[in-house]
Amino acid sequence: MDQNTDFAFDAPPDRRGTSSSKWEKYGQRDVIPLWVADMDFRTAPCVIETLSERVRHGIFGYTQPPRELPGVVVSMLERDFGWQVDPDWIVWMPSLVVGLNVVSRAFAARGEEILTATPIYPPFLSAPRNGDRITVTVPLNEHDGRWLWDFEALDKAVSPKTRSLLLCSPHNPTGRVWTADELHRIAEFCEQHNLVLVSDEIHSGLVLDRDRKHVPIASLGTISERTVTLLSASKTFNIPGLGCAFAIVSNEKLRAKLQATMRGIVHHVGALGYFATLAAFRDGKSWQLALLDYLRGNRDLVEATLSSIPGLRTWHVEATYLAWIDARELAVSKPLDFFEQAGVGLYDGALFDAPGFLRLNFACPRPLLQQALERMQQAVRRL
Ligand SMILES: Cc1ncc(COP(=O)(O)O)c(C=O)c1O
Repeated sequence: MDQNTDFAFDAPPDRRGTSSSKWEKYGQRDVIPLWVADMDFRTAPCVIETLSERVRHGIFGYTQPPRELPGVVVSMLERDFGWQVDPDWIVWMPSLVVGLNVVSRAFAARGEEILTATPIYPPFLSAPRNGDRITVTVPLNEHDGRWLWDFEALDKAVSPKTRSLLLCSPHNPTGRVWTADELHRIAEFCEQHNLVLVSDEIHSGLVLDRDRKHVPIASLGTISERTVTLLSASKTFNIPGLGCAFAIVSNEKLRAKLQATMRGIVHHVGALGYFATLAAFRDGKSWQLALLDYLRGNRDLVEATLSSIPGLRTWHVEATYLAWIDARELAVSKPLDFFEQAGVGLYDGALFDAPGFLRLNFACPRPLLQQALERMQQAVRRL
């Protein structure tokens, strides 16, 4: 466990010139990048130490999962979510986006349908299409300031050609942590219609509200038999550049189908990804708790500031470091361009099937976030 609890979230190293996708996008322009979902913080010291040791070893041959790693994943899932899994249920893969694409091909044939609810992280929409499967969407509905599933719409959207449902839990971009009741209903729906449930739980380590808990949907009973849960340490520990993720699949037939679809096409995980994941899940808890505290402060600042900007609407972020913003009432035709010209780079809601919305990533040093929010406030004031 990391002993030191001063992780300097306010003053991380400068990412400019480090080939960061987030920072390279705007090059030399004075635009604060708050778009793609990675954090501007150094990862946990225990991860850096483990990686340094592995790098010093200097040999980077073909690598299998470290012997300790499956047990560490199992213990983390039990410790954090009370979910008991068998190490044999783990299927390693280099990323969750790979996972979304593979499951789309494994559990539906060409021309068959895969359901999801919008707004949603863009690869949920593109993964089925990439393999000539059909993405069918139903909208999430907003009630009293919270985004909810529309089970009637879901019932109507299902057809004899529907094979699976892609769930994002916790949800990117609305920040919802689905309750056990909501998850039970989604599980019932999948059982009733004989669908494979694919649950992307990459944000499960980022629950900000102290009175909410992430519930792995596969922990809710028989639904486990038709569920593929996709996970990684990469969002919580800010290591998506290291390419390590995994699926948990208790049903042997589904697991075999998934592995057969990956065979010879999906590359194995690299050595550094495995070792970083091992250190993060085994030793990174104190860093994770400090991170969540810091992110709560950023979230409160974002919510307070955005709610004071006329024309913008946002929702309480229960989990993730992403704020979802409705800019349709703002008196500009292209809100994304408008804020970019004001020096703030956001993500376009249209990519999430929600034109007129924006997504803001608040996982950056608070002084930088403050500056970005001030730029947004001033730009709207000048309108
Ligand atoms: C819901 C969700 N799934 C998957 C990913 C990407 O995962 P990976 O980098 O492992 O492909 C993200 C990244 O933002 C995400 O928000």
